[in-house]
Amino acid sequence: MPTAGTILADACARLRSGGVVAFPTETVYGLGADALNSLAVARVFALKSRPWNNPLIVHAADTAMAQRCVSVWSDDAERLAAAFWPGPLSIVLPKASNIPPIVTGGGDGVAVRCPDHPLTLELLHAFGSPLVGPSANPSGRVSPTTAKHVRASFAEADVLVLDGGACVGGIESTVVDVRPATPRVLRPGLIGADDIARVLGRHVEHGIHAAGTGGDPAAALPSPGLLRSHYAPRTPAVLADASDLAAVASAASGGVVVITIGPDGAASLPSAVARITLPADARGYARGLYAALRRADAAGIGLIVIERPAPSADAPDAGVWSAVLDRLDRATAR
Ligand code: TXA
Ligand code: MG
Repeated sequence: MPTAGTILADACARLRSGGVVAFPTETVYGLGADALNSLAVARVFALKSRPWNNPLIVHAADTAMAQRCVSVWSDDAERLAAAFWPGPLSIVLPKASNIPPIVTGGGDGVAVRCPDHPLTLELLHAFGSPLVGPSANPSGRVSPTTAKHVRASFAEADVLVLDGGACVGGIESTVVDVRPATPRVLRPGLIGADDIARVLGRHVEHGIHAAGTGGDPAAALPSPGLLRSHYAPRTPAVLADASDLAAVASAASGGVVVITIGPDGAASLPSAVARITLPADARGYARGLYAALRRADAAGIGLIVIERPAPSADAPDAGVWSAVLDRLDRATAR
């Protein structure tokens, strides 16, 4: 059995030679490469079949390393990093000239984040330089939350996988652009817009700018994670209210798996219907969601039916539920 030290040394050697290393984070696994090496970054795009205009998040060991990736480290960035790093927040800032254009999809902004996982922080410190880290899945598919998920998509010869156990967060980081006067959440995540607004002391907006890319497909997208169909299993998936589950499941042909919400979700379902039960709390649900989608996908059935979470208005972790609902919308979009 190689020691943790040898594994990290191997990983750094791979990265230095322009190779790709999958690393665990508190959200999902990332496909890491040297962010300052265009060829290494191109390899990541190719492995994922990712459109070239979809920018990659740059992962830093600490605030000092993140500061070297941007041309302006604003007061907002300082406040957000102090409040949430290491953690699931990616901050978009004007990029520094040392960041190759391929990283940002040709755009002027770079998303930086310091991930909260001991193994990956150790890797970043040992490598001494920032790493790109898109989720370690083929483009458009469900993100991986275990090393096994990553190995199911990529050959060992192409990607060295660091196994840091199952990810505790389970859905991708919140992406916030702090360049406009009113900061904008481009992708919801475990840190809510309200949490960000509280730290910045002002209003924060949601979603893509109406101006978008001006219809130019070659332009950098404001945040392509906002494209509707994303995070999707191969098997068609639909959302259904708890009261409709039995009807929707019985109408499906070719077999069905129902993803329900515990402890008594889908009590009305006939016991013969295959089901996967997720926890009823927002964080537990987020943690288990992608593994559940992958299990359902692997069952070789015709339809995945997902019980629509219906958190009450005063439910704790409202921001996490809205990030979960965002992912469910995308997983079921066709
Ligand atoms: O939690 C995460 O963020 C994971 C882990 C591995 O860190 N990474 C991840 O990366 O989800 P990816 O590439 O799967 O999603 C990155 C999202 C995409 O929606 C992308 O468009 C957006 O962030 N993004 C990246 N750089 C950006 C930039 N410069 N400006 C605007 N959006 C950006
Ligand atoms: Mg992704």
